[in-house]
Amino acid sequence: MLKLALIGFGFVAQGLAEILLHRADELRATLGFAAQIVAVSTRSRGALYRPDGLVIDELLTAIHQGHLDRYPEVVGLERGWDTLRIIAESNADVMVEASPSNFQTGKPALDYCHAAFEAGKHVVLANKGPLVVAYHDLLAHAQQVGKQLRFEATVMAGTPTIHIGTQALAGCHISEVRGILNGTTNYILTQMESGMSYADALAQAQRLGYAEADPSADVDGWDAAAKALILASAVFGSRLTMADLSVKGISGITLEDVQDAKANGERWKLIARITPAGGSVQPVRLPLTDPLAGVLRVNNAVTYATDHLGDVTIIGPGAGRSQTGFGLLADLLAIHRAEHH
Ligand code: HSE
Repeated sequence: MLKLALIGFGFVAQGLAEILLHRADELRATLGFAAQIVAVSTRSRGALYRPDGLVIDELLTAIHQGHLDRYPEVVGLERGWDTLRIIAESNADVMVEASPSNFQTGKPALDYCHAAFEAGKHVVLANKGPLVVAYHDLLAHAQQVGKQLRFEATVMAGTPTIHIGTQALAGCHISEVRGILNGTTNYILTQMESGMSYADALAQAQRLGYAEADPSADVDGWDAAAKALILASAVFGSRLTMADLSVKGISGITLEDVQDAKANGERWKLIARITPAGGSVQPVRLPLTDPLAGVLRVNNAVTYATDHLGDVTIIGPGAGRSQTGFGLLADLLAIHRAEHH
């Protein structure tokens, strides 16, 4: 039984909790996997810890009512511990960090990751910030303490992009990674092609839970750049920073631009491209014959350019509640497999 401490309890962590709630029997029967949420910590909606486990539907009810204080009183329940105390003193085996990403400092999540390793916990991230700022330090710390650092949910939600780039294609030489790495902007561009205004499409993407807490990270290209850096670190082992990338978002693209491309058999896409030496994120007007032009709505895509196989492309959801929650589950299943072999 894996015991989990959830840091952040927004869309993504709730998505994981819902999967654990609804699929518990199936996961146990088919994969021998069982997980229990023992702690939840939020920035402004309270914190709970119970060593014998929290009841998931009560957690979801409480958070939907606005605050974890609504969770019923039960024996052994601790309320209001701060996050570092939960990480240091709880009996969780895994810290799942799914609070908003900070691409400048990675904090506070970066500190939580180091604290979790110090406390002998595995780390599973949906939060991109710590990896953008300190991927190699975190990996070294994980190895030093013999714990896992996993982050499938940080790139293309639960679509197994990291797994393919680092495990399935191990033994291939990958020379370039390119693709569409942001769900919000791809959704906006798709909706604008149907005539919706930029502002309405963005508001819709926010309602659907695709956008970052601060959506300028999406529309200005920084979220895609963060994912490009994570792929560069994981796939190439490179030490690039945001300063090594040239980044431009979609906020300058007008409805007229989108309609003009459509009238000419083309489509605007926010394309990320990364090599071991650097990379870029920028809007590109693609012919409809380009496979990336066919990636619509919240879907994203990554093409790995390899020696043995040529191009290998994966297409799937780039954002979303259960889609990103599944990315966290995939990492928990990998930890479970490693611990049972
Ligand atoms: N805001 C991100 C996106 C969420 O739209 O792709 C997934 O990282």
